[in-house]
Amino acid sequence: MKIALGVSGGIAAYKAAEIVRLLQDRDVRVQVIMTAAAQEFVRPLTFAALSGEKVITGMFGSAAEQPNLDSAVEHISVAQSIDCLLVAPATADVLAKFAQGIANDFLSTLYLATTAPVVVAPAMNVNMWEHPATQANLETLRRRGVTIVEPDSGYLACGMIGAGRLAGPEQIVAATLERLGVAQDLAGETVLITAGPTHEPIDPVRYLSNRSSGRMGYALAEAALRRGAKVILVSGPTALQPPAAAETIFVETAQQMRTAVLDRWEQASFIIMAAAVADYHVKNVSPEKIKRKAALELQLEPNPDILADLGSLRHATGKRSPILIGFAAETGDLLENARSKLSKKRVDAIVVNDVARAGIGFDNDRNEVTIVIPTDIIAVPEAGKLEIAQKILEAAIRIRQQPLAPP
Ligand code: CTP
Repeated sequence: MKIALGVSGGIAAYKAAEIVRLLQDRDVRVQVIMTAAAQEFVRPLTFAALSGEKVITGMFGSAAEQPNLDSAVEHISVAQSIDCLLVAPATADVLAKFAQGIANDFLSTLYLATTAPVVVAPAMNVNMWEHPATQANLETLRRRGVTIVEPDSGYLACGMIGAGRLAGPEQIVAATLERLGVAQDLAGETVLITAGPTHEPIDPVRYLSNRSSGRMGYALAEAALRRGAKVILVSGPTALQPPAAAETIFVETAQQMRTAVLDRWEQASFIIMAAAVADYHVKNVSPEKIKRKAALELQLEPNPDILADLGSLRHATGKRSPILIGFAAETGDLLENARSKLSKKRVDAIVVNDVARAGIGFDNDRNEVTIVIPTDIIAVPEAGKLEIAQKILEAAIRIRQQPLAPP
């Protein structure tokens, strides 16, 4: 997800730095656009360093750069690549330009060129805010579908008291994501997710493992971040890049995964075990590389069942928290197997994958799952893994709202 953040000139321009950080915490890429007036208040370098992206400061590149065609049409490419245009702070001047369709700098041109949703968070002097011209412009924008995050009342930089202070960065970010259909219902929660396979060594160069790309677990991490959660991602070996905003702990073996999870489980309000944990490890791992021979016998010992251990630990507390969700990869008797895992492991839900089906699941961006909870079965039709992840999180939140089943 990518959001263009327009920063216009006002004392509150510095608060946009916090908005960049909060969006990044939710795994959103931010492209900052500064008006000329904004650059009088904050240096573009601040936003470049925070966002990790070039800051757009004008229609034709900066004075130091050679103007070129690329920068002259950049407003069109940015307009097409963003999921949302957020302007915070939005001055009276920017609101007037947007309302009238005046396109004489990058930000106002971008507003006309984009079809993405637009959110504005105004900040200005109280008299400017209350002026009929500003209110008429706001009404025009509102009618056009622009989301307006109303300013707060209080002491203003100009010394006056009244409405005009930029709304809080959290509130602006929440309103923006909600406008994009991403509920902020996990704000303040910690979600622990396991992902990927585990590797159980045989010798220094070989291991036993399960088929798993880690994509479902990583999608869950991304989805939970978007909803405002703090995410702890315990990841087995994968080729994926974890979301920067997640606290990621890399592990190799089931035993290491267990230690990482048990060290942190009490911090979490939701635990989702999407990892394909190897059920066995090799009893006598060879310190030397095993040479090829006619036949090789490996003695396997069962690994601890991390999810079942969590189920028992939670049961001992007598509490409903954290909500525990497991996955099951099945090739037959899906619901029956899921129900049996649900009660055996004492968890709140099992997300079942039919791994016998081609084109979804393993090494694929798409999936189709059934979420089995003690009182219901939720079929989630085929979709991208991020969308499936959102459905799993919705189910998790719903489970927590349900009354506790009698023991
Ligand atoms: N799991 C775990 N620790 C293990 C094995 C599995 O925490 N040692 C978790 C997985 O992350 C998953 C769930 O348990 O969320 C179900 O795993 P699965 O391997 O399907 O279940 P098993 O009980 O091992 O049953 P099966 O006989 O089908 O392998």
